[in-house]
Amino acid sequence: MRILAIETSCDETAAAVIEDGRYIRSNVVATQIELHRRFGGVFPEVASRQHVLAIYPVLEQALAEAGLNGVEGLDALAVTVGPGLAGSLLVGVNAAKGLSFASGLPLLPVNHLEGHIYSNWLDANGTETAMAGDHFPVLVLIVSGGHTELVLMTGHGRYRRLGGTLDDAAGEAFDKVARLLKLGYPGGPAVQEAALAGDPTHFTLPRPLLHNRSHRFDFSFSGLKTAALNLVRDLERQGEDVDDPALVADIAAGFQAAAVDVLVAKTAAAAQSYGAQRVCICGGVSANQALRDAAGRRFRDLGLPLHIPPLFLCTDNAAMIGAAAYYSGRQRADEIDGLALDVYANLALPESE
Ligand code: KG4
Ligand code: ZN
Repeated sequence: MRILAIETSCDETAAAVIEDGRYIRSNVVATQIELHRRFGGVFPEVASRQHVLAIYPVLEQALAEAGLNGVEGLDALAVTVGPGLAGSLLVGVNAAKGLSFASGLPLLPVNHLEGHIYSNWLDANGTETAMAGDHFPVLVLIVSGGHTELVLMTGHGRYRRLGGTLDDAAGEAFDKVARLLKLGYPGGPAVQEAALAGDPTHFTLPRPLLHNRSHRFDFSFSGLKTAALNLVRDLERQGEDVDDPALVADIAAGFQAAAVDVLVAKTAAAAQSYGAQRVCICGGVSANQALRDAAGRRFRDLGLPLHIPPLFLCTDNAAMIGAAAYYSGRQRADEIDGLALDVYANLALPESE
């Protein structure tokens, strides 16, 4: 089954052709990073306008790279309907509706969070890290710019939310700390880069909710971000040069170590409590090398197989949307009125039990 998938929920205009939910025939991502850099974050109106400009060239490129002649040879279309920026989502949904109307192909709505989850099922040039077969229950940590959630997956398309952030998402904290340290945008990769030269033990930042019994599987990244802010202010008061690269590196490393510690500890605790067979980590922050290394060590010690997508599938892309459309099997294509699809800025992961 060949699906053309479209993703425009935030600041990447993306289209991909995915075969049988797993094989990437093409995967085109037009990023808007340069456009938003001067605002220090995603500017929603600018994002939607750029999606309008990029969507058709991106779609054409995705079809051409898959070796397709227009929509010939496709079985279905899929598009992200939420969560995300409403104006951005609308561009993808409208383009998908137009294609569906013109071609008669069924149009499948996809939840962006399910997309991130299914990025782990994609076979990226035969990577051994891809999920093969069904080994449920699977414990999933979704860590992105908008979400930080622990989810128990009991089958394809079947989710139970165990916990999540009570305030900021992990990626949001990386972005805010990057701004505080004047490291630029996007923040996650910039903090990771700065931290490479730093000593993660020079400044010990708090690990919020790490041992909190009533919030065992919840996170709080706003407190960690504030602790970084207070540290910078204290250092300034002590007459330190807070622009000094060595100091910045130590703060970045201290922050990253605290965030990674909490993410790995809670994911491991949840996997053990619920008898998970496998663990998947996904979303933009799963590109973080310190997180990948720490999680790799922890789950090797626990004897639990860990899956993290290759870097190009961690951040937003349409390949994962095609995979989710195929596997989640939420609705039958012939039962969906594709032309009636709407967008849902605050869409949650559907819970099945
Ligand atoms: O999944 P994603 O592309 O978009 C959302 O659905 O939110 O995630 C973007 C987030 C941003 O906050 C970005 O700073 C973070 O992922 N990120 C990283 C890294 N690469 C991207 N955070 C930490 N380390 C990285 N290497
Ligand atoms: Zn995302």
